[in-house]
Amino acid sequence: MNSHNNPSWADSRVEKLVGTLVSAMTVEEKVAFVTGDLNFDYGFYSAPLERLGIPALQMADGPAGVRINRADVHDGRATSLPAPIALAATWDPGLAHRFGAVIGAECLASDHNVSLAPAVDIARVPLAGRTFESFGEDPLLTSDMGVAVARGIQSHPVQACAKHFAVNNQEYQRATIDAVIDERTLMEIYLPPFEALVRDGEVASVMAAFNRINGDHACENTELLSTILREQFGFRGWVMSDYGANHSTAASANAGLDQEQPAAGHWGEQLAEAVRDGRVDPTVLDTMVRRILTPLVGLGQLDRRPSIAPFPVETHHAVALQVAEEGTVLLRNNGLLPLDTSALSSIAIIGPDIDAASAQGGGSSLVKPIHQVSPLKAILHRLGDDVRADWAYGTDGVTPAALLPGPDPLPSDLLSPDGGAEPAQHGLRAQYWTNPTFSGDPFLERVDPQIDLNVGFFNFEGFNASSARVDKLPGDLNGQISVRWTGDLSVPASGTYSLSVTALGTFELSLDDRVLISSGEPVGGESATRAAEPLYPYGQLTLQGSTTQPEIHDVEVPLVAGTRYRLRMDYAAGSPEQGFLTGAQVRLGWRPPAGVVSPAIASAAASAAAADVAVVVVRDYESEHADRPHLHLPNGQDDLVRAVVAANPRTVVAVMTGAPVDMSAWIDEAAAVLHAWYPGQAQGEALARVLFGDTEPGGRLPLTFPRDLAHTPVTDPRQYPGTGGQVEYADGVFVGYQGYAQHGLDPLFPFGHGLSYTTFAYDDLEISPGGPDDLADLTVTVTNTGARHGSEVIQVYLGRLPAPVPTPPRRLAAYRKVRIAPGQSERVHLTIPARAASYWDVDAHDWARAKGDIEIFVGASSGDLRLSTTLPLRQAGLSEYVQ
Ligand code: BGC
Repeated sequence: MNSHNNPSWADSRVEKLVGTLVSAMTVEEKVAFVTGDLNFDYGFYSAPLERLGIPALQMADGPAGVRINRADVHDGRATSLPAPIALAATWDPGLAHRFGAVIGAECLASDHNVSLAPAVDIARVPLAGRTFESFGEDPLLTSDMGVAVARGIQSHPVQACAKHFAVNNQEYQRATIDAVIDERTLMEIYLPPFEALVRDGEVASVMAAFNRINGDHACENTELLSTILREQFGFRGWVMSDYGANHSTAASANAGLDQEQPAAGHWGEQLAEAVRDGRVDPTVLDTMVRRILTPLVGLGQLDRRPSIAPFPVETHHAVALQVAEEGTVLLRNNGLLPLDTSALSSIAIIGPDIDAASAQGGGSSLVKPIHQVSPLKAILHRLGDDVRADWAYGTDGVTPAALLPGPDPLPSDLLSPDGGAEPAQHGLRAQYWTNPTFSGDPFLERVDPQIDLNVGFFNFEGFNASSARVDKLPGDLNGQISVRWTGDLSVPASGTYSLSVTALGTFELSLDDRVLISSGEPVGGESATRAAEPLYPYGQLTLQGSTTQPEIHDVEVPLVAGTRYRLRMDYAAGSPEQGFLTGAQVRLGWRPPAGVVSPAIASAAASAAAADVAVVVVRDYESEHADRPHLHLPNGQDDLVRAVVAANPRTVVAVMTGAPVDMSAWIDEAAAVLHAWYPGQAQGEALARVLFGDTEPGGRLPLTFPRDLAHTPVTDPRQYPGTGGQVEYADGVFVGYQGYAQHGLDPLFPFGHGLSYTTFAYDDLEISPGGPDDLADLTVTVTNTGARHGSEVIQVYLGRLPAPVPTPPRRLAAYRKVRIAPGQSERVHLTIPARAASYWDVDAHDWARAKGDIEIFVGASSGDLRLSTTLPLRQAGLSEYVQ
């Protein structure tokens, strides 16, 4: 485990120049160089050293395109690429390289020289908030995608950054959680992508995560930063901390952290002091500087500086479109897709964001797009005037409040605002104060469609990925505030309704001046004035991730249709934990009597019933800083889809989420289901092209879709979300499909699944010895047996290894995507790397190879294996097997 080749950016010429620069720097200059700063122009930033011609490091998120902080640079816009999970669904590393090259080019042209991408954290649990930024649950696919993206980025003089090192698989308590994990699981599941990025991707930098691993913070984890990353993997670049993730001065410096990023405040003068008093050896500081300078010099960044320059917007849009199309997964199809326009005279187009292209993940990876063609516009454009089209939102918009637990929010069309608003306007009159005590004049008055707020982190400038039709709140309201909502409530049918309030803070809900539910404390009273957490910036800020849970209160009320009830809700976000990161969290929810839906859903269903075909596009809200509270579509969309599929059996459901959703409420009635992930700025065009068969949905699932949360490999709260500050990785190597297979769990859709508009047959599997680093070469004939062009992802899985440790019944060992014309066959070659038949030996602290019979399966998904053979591995020597 320790022979490595130097990356191409670290040759002797580079080393010599770096040595000269290091020896010319003073201790103060070195300390300044390794201490990052917050710079609102760039995000992460470290100052230039002009005396020596060393440029600033100007860093931009991130994994789904370049997040440009400066409004004066290209209007803050860049190509909004599909989320990395959509890229992984293409199973096409060549396309991933082009995706990375777009990021590299746009970084350079927007004055950045470091891209904070790719993220190669394994998607361990379905609720994890950053699944959309990941490449899914499989170490091999994640490695390949990460390597290709990093190489694409670094094909420009821009450094890539592998994040988040390591075992950063949930947002719940992300700053404090301690991931308790054994060595074998670490080496077999969570670290291979980082290893691949170092060895094959030549990645320049690594970002150390927020969390702890086996007790030590990631930023001061010597085992990870020095022993594994440097000594074992041979990493020659540098490690930066995540934002505020560094917890110490000497401990992190001595453990192997090379640059502290802002908001932690442990380096700078404190590091200089530690060097002066000997807690940090001067050679350690030199090493840190050298590690940062090596890729900087080696990638040509001394000479080729970033600038504000034009870039090929249309070419980049074409990459975004191709990834969106090839990443779209056809989960189910009863033959309705592709839609035949010649047989179509009317269509209903439905969804809360249907007239925008705004389905994307929130947080630091959010990109302000250059182009936006909505699904509605793209479908109408494709159909022309001969087809009658009707469209509807069906539900209110989706916001970060979707991350709150509790029943769905009361829809706006049951509410009308107080104070003489437009008759057509739905919602409630809202008055906002920037204090938790309703003091003084309100800061803002407006009509809110719903009572459904989750601000703070999610509402930071440029972090909020709400539906385009939702008016975001100004940042002044991110901290401790109070709000009063007033208006009328009227229900669509008489019956007993459950009204609920989800709230962090104090509240009082009344109907016709009678208090229905309250938090039990005076709203905005003394308790509301308790000190909040320290305010941004700097201070003791740590990006905690959601720790506090709002409470849910509910009450049953008989309500009569046709009656207008006066509704008033007072709310104060004044709990001690509410401040900069955790702001107002409040929702007025409902559970209607059985069979009752909102008027908007009823009318969307009516337009679906009157059309030949209905297309319903749904989305969720995902973001760093919180895991999802449940697996359902938020804000009434499950009811919407259920009503639409019931109204018209010829319904296509297009799901735009970055992670699995529970589809049990409607999947059996839907004629076709497309999973489009967060498809980036070309989402409308991609969807229209796939629907009408101008292209095929080329994606395959990079993670398992469970039936529900009870049927996944991790159901014990100690394993997720953790208890007592720890999360136990007792699921071991049985992650994702490896765990479903191990535990005999039947998923809704297995890893690797994805249908095509054509069909494929597999024949003639042959196996032959591979190269020196390979286990074997496989050849299989794949035939397009349908009538349309199509692509297939041929997947090779190994069965349980003949090994002294338990290994999964299926593990992905190789794959290849091929495009085949109808009626044609192709002989497809695949190579199984030696690593596939190895396990991590915890006594030897090294890989060991299995000996004995290994079953090899070839097929179209982990649940659709068509051919198999046995490879008898006689000896440790990999080429020594008998056929
Ligand atoms: C995220 C990182 C990101 C950084 C800078 C952090 O909150 O975890 O992924 O690169 O912010 O925006």
